[in-house]
Amino acid sequence: MAKLSPSVLNADFTRLGEQIKILENEKVPYLHIDVMDGMFVPNISMGMPIIKSIRKFTDMVLDVHLMIERPERYIDDFVECGCDIINFHAEATNDIEGCIKKIKEKGKKVGITIKPQTSEEEIFKYLKDVDLVLVMSVEPGFGGQKFMTGSLKKVNRIAEYIKKNSLSAEIEIDGGISLNNIREVINAGTDVIVVGSAIFSKQNITEEIKKYQSLFKEYNR
Ligand code: DX5
Ligand code: ZN
Repeated sequence: MAKLSPSVLNADFTRLGEQIKILENEKVPYLHIDVMDGMFVPNISMGMPIIKSIRKFTDMVLDVHLMIERPERYIDDFVECGCDIINFHAEATNDIEGCIKKIKEKGKKVGITIKPQTSEEEIFKYLKDVDLVLVMSVEPGFGGQKFMTGSLKKVNRIAEYIKKNSLSAEIEIDGGISLNNIREVINAGTDVIVVGSAIFSKQNITEEIKKYQSLFKEYNR
């Protein structure tokens, strides 16, 4: 079942609560939060204090995307601040197994994430142990970039592998998605779809969210 996970990276942070309430009222299930360290990606975004405040404010599923070097250093902190899903990058650590284990032991969902240049085959062996695989459809680091169409084939191949091996991991996709290409993304076999600037750059977010939600209803009927 396809679900929307709006990314707050391009939200108006002076009105974040108000904007999250809009998503809640429209029954959007997930909230995507991008954490960047200026090392793994050339940008710095937000961290634990913001996630803690969001956690107190909403029951939405907090889908956190760590774009940080050696995520194993901070798993405990992100668990404590109330994340529900912790996605870390396969390229950012030498201890993929350790990260998966640590996140699962804390009772949280774990997602393994790959950049556009990383082949899905490199992470196949971990798919039996994760709840999600997050496929980047732009180079991580910034919102508002152009969707890389090659990611659709990647999603297809991962979906096939999951099916063939009767696994339960979901596929998430992130970067450059809007109403113009979301159907292709759903048709490729994606379960969780991150949309950032295409929602938060709009004047009327409520109206925009309604368009996505009715499209999801159509697919999930
Ligand atoms: C990019 C982030 C994305 C970003 C998506 O590194 O991981 O989640 O916010 O934004 P759009 O939808 O604008 O590409
Ligand atoms: Zn993201």
